Amino acid sequence: MLAKLYTDMCHVFPKFRKTTRKQMYQFMAKYYQKRDWSFMNYGYAPEDATEVLTLNSEDEINRYCIQLYHHVANAVELRGMKVLEVGSGRGGGADYIKRYLGPARMIGVDFSDKAVNLCKKYYCVDGLSFVPGDAEHLPFDDDSFDAVVNVESSHCYGSMAAFLAQVRRVLKPGGHFLFADFRPREQIDEMDEQIERSEMQQIKQKNITLNVVEALDADHERRIAHIRRGAPKLLGKLMQEFAGTKGAGIYKGFQSGAFVYKSFVLQKA
Ligand SMILES: C[S@@+](CC[C@H](N)C(=O)[O-])C[C@H]1O[C@@H](n2cnc3c(N)ncnc32)[C@H](O)[C@@H]1O
Repeated sequence: MLAKLYTDMCHVFPKFRKTTRKQMYQFMAKYYQKRDWSFMNYGYAPEDATEVLTLNSEDEINRYCIQLYHHVANAVELRGMKVLEVGSGRGGGADYIKRYLGPARMIGVDFSDKAVNLCKKYYCVDGLSFVPGDAEHLPFDDDSFDAVVNVESSHCYGSMAAFLAQVRRVLKPGGHFLFADFRPREQIDEMDEQIERSEMQQIKQKNITLNVVEALDADHERRIAHIRRGAPKLLGKLMQEFAGTKGAGIYKGFQSGAFVYKSFVLQKA
């Protein structure tokens, strides 16, 4: 009931959505600084067993979150490219892309400066850097990236149209926008239309809701154990909602189709 009210208010008042989300991510970066939490997405389970990734043993723990990044970012060749991730969070995705997909430069940008500071502390990898910045006002020159990656972040923004205009601005001609996020079912057509109007060519799109549910099922125990270990008891239920564990509103929403998760590959002409 409260969650539905919050979702509705966020839709009607985009500034309220942006401000409350920022406060939440700042709070989490301030109060949980350990490196054992480096991804904040719901994950992806491929339907095809041949898509299952071979990971280094230290990355196994984050397999499902990594698989979402891999599904999104591996859609085009990134080796040797200059890549921007918008909404890089606690940095696990940008670090994965840099180490496994081999871009020459990988930059993560996030509006939580506290999360950016954590990333700067965690990741000392050549060619990987993090800067604070807003998706709707990206602090980069025109035509400066070969690809922009965006995973499960755009549902927080004040204006999706402003974000898409920024992506198009910072991409080089021919550059790719690699994107995945969810919306309530009644807002999914609006997201499709915004993407349609972005003046980037749509190469591919996929409804990945079932892949996300399967990932949440497979990752449930790890998520619960992590919350038990790291979150104060008082915040346990709230963190389960955030993490999408079985029984959480968002988990049930993906299961019932009330929330739809999609991935896209777009290209700037
Ligand atoms: C659910 S987390 C996902 C983080 C990361 N992509 C991952 O999958 O682990 C959403 C992220 O988007 C960031 N974000 C939200 N609104 C933003 C904005 N307007 N500009 C930049 N980052 C934003 C948040 O701070 C948060 O780190």
